[in-house]
Amino acid sequence: SFEVMLARSGNRFVVPKDKSITEVLASHGVHIPMSCEEGVCGTCITNVIRGEPDHRDCFFSEQEKAAGNQMMPCCSRSKSAELVLDL
Ligand code: FES
Repeated sequence: SFEVMLARSGNRFVVPKDKSITEVLASHGVHIPMSCEEGVCGTCITNVIRGEPDHRDCFFSEQEKAAGNQMMPCCSRSKSAELVLDL
């Protein structure tokens, strides 16, 4: 598991192994626009302020994944203990 912190509210949530970031956020009333929910469409694109995303999408190029300043929270996870998102 890892923690997601929302930069605007300062709220932090634990994302367990069996849940996506978007599922956890939605269960706390934070709804990110989504379409495919599997890393294809790019609808859920979210800016990353701090932390290292574990990209599981097939939308970004390898370069964009390496840059690590954006992610698809419908499917991607975190390599760092904490991700700070621009939400
Ligand atoms: Fe399609 Fe996340 S909803 S990439």
